[in-house]
Amino acid sequence: MRVVLSLGGSVLAPELDAGRVAAYANAIERLVDEGCELGIVVGGGGVARDYIGAARELDANEVQLDQLGIDVTRVNARLLITALGPFVDPSPAHDYDEAADAVRRGDVSVMGGVTPGQTTDAVAAALGEYVDADLLVYATSADGIYDADPNVDETAEQFAEMTPEELVEVIVPMSRDAGASAPVDLLAAKLIQRAGMRTVVLDGHDPEAVENAVLYGEHTGTDVVPAGGEEPTYWAR
Ligand code: UTP
Repeated sequence: MRVVLSLGGSVLAPELDAGRVAAYANAIERLVDEGCELGIVVGGGGVARDYIGAARELDANEVQLDQLGIDVTRVNARLLITALGPFVDPSPAHDYDEAADAVRRGDVSVMGGVTPGQTTDAVAAALGEYVDADLLVYATSADGIYDADPNVDETAEQFAEMTPEELVEVIVPMSRDAGASAPVDLLAAKLIQRAGMRTVVLDGHDPEAVENAVLYGEHTGTDVVPAGGEEPTYWAR
């Protein structure tokens, strides 16, 4: 089973905590032991936002800000690599070719951002499409996709399951509202739709929850299931 896992920076390193990174590394090693081929995309979290905020005050332009953000995602990727075993590509992949090569030869690939103007949400979706992943998993700080922002609207309801088309429909208005942040951004949603890729969006604070989602399809987040998508045979339990 080939999986691309998007690990938000706010999930992996909300603050620098070696124990947290080690717990994630252990979960990833167990997935590898269970036969998963893995591409991992790591986000920048609060540290990226802090750097971007400081550089914005220094009048950096948007591309420079994105480049700073990309650098932070790569630092986080490198941190995770240090906690993983010998089956991991030893440096963060710079592009999709490098990441896909590593996954195809059986290494775990870990990467951060690649190009200005997007976030690692889109990188994960593009990598998933590139390596023809069976499953794309977003381990985020939100427990799935809601029909409105649950931090603002207490009547917001979570989708247990939706199609990629519905995902795009829900994300479009969220992307228009300044300040509202969708758990998966619009470019990523469009790539998921284009690829018809089975996707899970879940609260990633507990690495074991991510493991259960990948191995058994069990989680409390949102399943994005392409039309006609059947229950994958790899969820044997
Ligand atoms: P993240 O993917 O962590 O952004 O990349 P985010 O979605 O704001 O973070 P979370 O999910 O809330 O934790 C950090 C920043 O790096 C730049 C963007 O500026 C992004 O906001 N970036 C990242 C790019 O420009 N290109 C990329 O491919 C990736």
